[in-house]
Parts: sequence; C-alpha cells; structure tokens
Amino acid sequence: METRKREKYNVLIVGSGGREHALAMSVSKSRKLRKLYCVPGNAGISEIAECADIKAMEFDRIVEYAKEKEIDLTIVGPDDPLVGGLVDELEKAGLKAFGPKKNAAILEGSKAFSKELMKKYGIPTAEHETFDDAADALKYLDSAKMPIVLKADGLALGKGVLICNTLDEARNGIKEIMLDKKFGTAGNRVVIEEFLTGREVSVLTFCDGKTIRVMSSAQDHKRALDGDQGLNTGGMGTFSPSPFYTKEIDEFCREKIYLPTVKAMAEEGRPFKGVIFFGLMLTKDGPKVLEYNARFGDPEAQVVLPRMKNDILEVMEACVEGKLDEISLEFEDNAAVCVVLASKGYPQKYDRGFPIRGLEAFQGKRSYYVFHAGTRKTSKGIVTNGGRVLGVTAKGSDLKKARANAYKAAAWIDFDNKYCRSDIGKAIDEA
Ligand code: AMP
Ligand code: GLY
Repeated sequence: METRKREKYNVLIVGSGGREHALAMSVSKSRKLRKLYCVPGNAGISEIAECADIKAMEFDRIVEYAKEKEIDLTIVGPDDPLVGGLVDELEKAGLKAFGPKKNAAILEGSKAFSKELMKKYGIPTAEHETFDDAADALKYLDSAKMPIVLKADGLALGKGVLICNTLDEARNGIKEIMLDKKFGTAGNRVVIEEFLTGREVSVLTFCDGKTIRVMSSAQDHKRALDGDQGLNTGGMGTFSPSPFYTKEIDEFCREKIYLPTVKAMAEEGRPFKGVIFFGLMLTKDGPKVLEYNARFGDPEAQVVLPRMKNDILEVMEACVEGKLDEISLEFEDNAAVCVVLASKGYPQKYDRGFPIRGLEAFQGKRSYYVFHAGTRKTSKGIVTNGGRVLGVTAKGSDLKKARANAYKAAAWIDFDNKYCRSDIGKAIDEA
C-alpha cells in the first residue's frame, strides 16, 4: 500500500464515547499530530477535534471524508465498525487505519470462534460447548452443573451474556437467545460455558500481527449499583492498575495467554493489528480468558491512556507497519480512577437534555479529566444525551489517593438526575 509519508499526520478517530474522547486527548498530545478529526464525536471531543456528523457504520461516507481531509491515519474505536470491516474498506481505498481487519476482529465478533481458537491452541479459558440448535442446547443443560453461563455468539451491545443459577433460568435463557432472538442474529449460535469465580482484570495490549505490548492493567465495575448489585451496564467506573494483577500473574499471562493468542491468529491467517483487550478471571487455578475484545475497553481506556507516557501515534504507527518490536511501552508510576456519571435509570429508561454545570472546573488541572460519553452541544450549552454522560478520571500517587481525587472531581459536576456509584475502586482496600 502506497501512503504519503509526512512528518505530521492528519488523524481521524471514529466513535463517540468516553473511549474516543480519551483517545482524542492522547492523540492531541502527540508530537506527530497535524490536525485531529472525529466522526461523529461528541461535545467534549469537539473541543479538541473537528467533528462531522457521520455515523460509525456509514463506511462509504467515512472513506469519502478521510480522502477529503487527507487523513494519514484513521483510528477505529468501537466494536461494530471493526467487526463489520471498516478497516478493510479504508485500506481498499489506500488509507491507513489502526484496528484489526474484519477477519481478525472476529476474535470479538464471534464467541464461538474465540472459544474454538482457545481450545485449539491450549489457551486457558472456561470449558465450553457451542450449539446451533436450541433442542441440542436444552438437552445438554439437563446434565450440566449450575450455575452456568450462556453467551450469544455475536455482538449484543455487551448484553449477550447470561449467568444462570438454576436449570429453569438456563432453559429460559436458551429460549430467549435462540428462539425469541432477544439479541437478534447474534443468538443464532450459543456458547454454553462453565461458571468461573475470582477477580476480574482487564488487560489492553497493542499488537502488530506478531509482536504484542502490554499496557497497564485495569478493572471495570460493570454493575449499575453499589456493591456490584443491579443490572449489567457498559461500565460504571474503572481503576488502574489492578493491585490483584501481580508480576507473577503478568508473567504467566504473557507466556500462556497473550503471545499464544497473537501467534494463533497469525497461524490462522488472521494477523491481528490493533488492540486486543483480554478480559481475564483470576481463578484459584490461575488466570483464564473470559472474553476477547478487538478494541480499547470503555471505561478502561479512560484510566489507562492518561497514564501512558508514550506518544500514542508512534505506537499506533508501529502496529500498522509491523514494527512494534521497536517500541517499549512506559506508564507513569501512579494510579488513576474513573467514576462514570450516569443518568438515573440507566441502563434502562432515563431522560436526556439536562444542562451540565461545572465542566469548566477541569480546565488547566493536569491530573483531572472529564471525558464525554453522552453529551450534546445546544444553544443552552452542553446537555446530557445518554445513559453514561461523563467519565471523571483523576490520577493520584496511589489508588486510594486517585480514588479520593476522582470523587472530589465528580462533585464539581452537576446535572439533573446525575447518578454515580460511590464504591468505584473500593475493592483495592482488600489488596
Ligand atoms: P462479557 O460480555 O463476555 O464481558 O461478559 C460479561 C460478564 O459476564 C463478564 O465481565 C463476567 O463478569 C461475566 N462472565 C463471563 N463469562 C463468565 C464465566 N465463564 N464465569 C463467570 N462469569 C462470567
Ligand atoms: N468495559 C468493558 C468493555 O469495554 O467491553
């Protein structure tokens, strides 16, 4: 592929959440940046990037826009366009992109694929069986041990995983996924897997198809309410690093999980370039993979990226060009905590359109960040426009200080129906 070589790049970010705002913040600090663009972006991103109203799944329009703006590198944030093949479309048009091609993004796009890959290459994960037929799945459940985990094969907005405590719940789950098609075609196949217990850790890595570089660990809080109660959400807060992810665990994972995954994908003719997000469970039998994602996690990116010392465009360019072996990643020796400010009622029903006050308090403060997720600019100022509205991140010399700082900063912001968990990062007290 022929691409222009320039000293400084025009960069386009695709996406509109807190993850993309955190990416935009990192890219905006790069020495290699000429001009930053984002589609569709949000109110926060538009402060540091030129945004255009093009949706992440409008591939033709994105390619057109990238050509028109002479984009040197497009960074694709969310799972849907990656799994749908946006990187392939950009490359076909002679444009450089950071992210896996369609044949590699399947690592996230199909749980049946990723489970088979792990089985074939001996990568530690929960025992599983895959079913295309509801009757077979129901028959299997009769002799299975409870609790058990049901996973719709395809993308289901992070909601396609059901943890079932009883046989009745599991039977009902199969009916919902495979017969009622609660998650659409994502439920044409189902993975039934062993229930694991332990601490969860999210580890993000950069990959260039053969080399892998591991970022600092993080932990997400997925449930809506304090004490890990309530419904699953896209994530109510994160902290980084995880004190439970020790050096020994890291060494084990590099040798038995991370590198074997990258090698397996290359061997299957699906070299992975981009970010592999390893969702791990630290079980008493050692770390096991719960899931792969083919992108940065959200809100994981909101605590990991502010701590990264490298120039992100240099790292991404090395991934695209297969030169990641020339890069070593460096992280600040501190901690970060992100508290998500949501709208009351999320993840179910909630209202939008409430003015947000206090955003200016973050201006000029070095270790405090406010990442926009669901916001909109109007004539009345910036208003709420989603379930997860903002991610407030603060750094500190250790996790406790970062947590105190994050909650202090979360109080600078005010809007009607504001809701956040009060125990993000509390688990660190047990470490
Ligand atoms: P996922 O959408 O694959 O991230 O799964 C959502 C959540 O379900 C994970 O973050 C875990 O908390 C839980 N989970 C997934 N697989 C298992 C498993 N095999 N055992 C226990 N919990 C699981
Ligand atoms: N925070 C989990 C995810 O991004 O899927």
